[in-house]
Amino acid sequence: MAGPGKSDDKRGVHAVAALALIAVVIAAAAGAFAYTGGWFSPHRLTPDRMVDALSRRGGDPLGHRRNHAKGICFTGEFAANGAGARLSIAPMLAAGHYPVIGRFAIAVGDPQAPDAAGRVRSMAVRIAAPDGEEWRSGMNNSPVFVVATPEEFYQITRAQDLDPAAGKPDPAAMQRFLATHPDSAVFNEWAKTAPWTTSFADQTYNSLNAFRFIDAAGRSRLVRWSMQTTVAPHEVPYDALAALGPDFLEADLERRLAQGALRWNLVVTLAAPGDPSNNATKAWPANRETVAVGMLVVRHAQDEADGPCRDYNYDPTILPVGIQPSDDPLLPARSAAYAKSFDLRAAEAADYPRTPPRSEASR
Ligand code: HEM
Repeated sequence: MAGPGKSDDKRGVHAVAALALIAVVIAAAAGAFAYTGGWFSPHRLTPDRMVDALSRRGGDPLGHRRNHAKGICFTGEFAANGAGARLSIAPMLAAGHYPVIGRFAIAVGDPQAPDAAGRVRSMAVRIAAPDGEEWRSGMNNSPVFVVATPEEFYQITRAQDLDPAAGKPDPAAMQRFLATHPDSAVFNEWAKTAPWTTSFADQTYNSLNAFRFIDAAGRSRLVRWSMQTTVAPHEVPYDALAALGPDFLEADLERRLAQGALRWNLVVTLAAPGDPSNNATKAWPANRETVAVGMLVVRHAQDEADGPCRDYNYDPTILPVGIQPSDDPLLPARSAAYAKSFDLRAAEAADYPRTPPRSEASR
């Protein structure tokens, strides 16, 4: 039998071992935290660095989204026709009506930018199912995205840094980026040549990233989707936009909604073998199978300062059962950056109250 002295020694050894284990766990947690925060590798692309770069493109972004900073909320519903149910078990693809909280925006860093500054227009939706599942999607009106990877997105964002002397970005920085990134050519050609219009309503908005639909048998299909406009575009020369004032998109939306609801067809495109899942700069061939799965009906618009979209960040990885992210590297980077942007603007809201809603200021 062990004497009292030995058993005390054993307890002491156990206590030291337990403390050492706690120290190791704390050190590992601190290390993981420092790694995630990028402290070991100051050049690694973190959400903080990404969002910081997005915040340096002019104007005062405090209290606002760090990209697509100027926008307007909307509400309506998604009327699913049931055709999507064979492709995915997502509850909002079963025939029925599902409430939507969404947002139209222009892809700028300055929340006060004139609407003519927004080459890319966007639609974001949150489609809710009665069981609590939700489908968030942020879509742009370009046919492809400008870059394929988060690192390239960081570089092209830095190419828009304000030159302090000129008060605007140095055009040579963007030219250098485009000259060395041939993948950006399709987007760039669209940006140079696509007709300008005066409305959010006459645009088609595309997911650009690929996702996976999972059906009832567990089969996974690679897809992209689009909200296809049902309104004929009203094309205008770019130079005519200035005369419409800085907020012509909001005025147009309110005018149209006063006359009735606006509609978009939600169309899902199915990839064929070999279509890229991880490169949003590459369009899929136009002859791919498509399935129209329902209609988005937009009924009302609200200022975003206090509107229902204010507290949603349209993280594209918030998906219902039956829809999953693909291996596109932009998707996790988007998720992390949108969360960072949301945290900043939510924390800043008290210190930097948003300017009065434009409709109040201008009426
Ligand atoms: C690494 C790539 C990207 C980064 C870092 C990024 C970053 C951001 C950030 C920080 C926001 C503001 C989020 C908020 O505060 O709510 C935003 C908004 C948005 N982004 Fe991206 N983005 C990326 C790629 C894309 C792509 C590929 C699309 C394609 C459609 C896209 C579409 C949108 C849309 C539609 C919004 C506005 C959502 C809304 O109205 O609230 N982004 N982005």
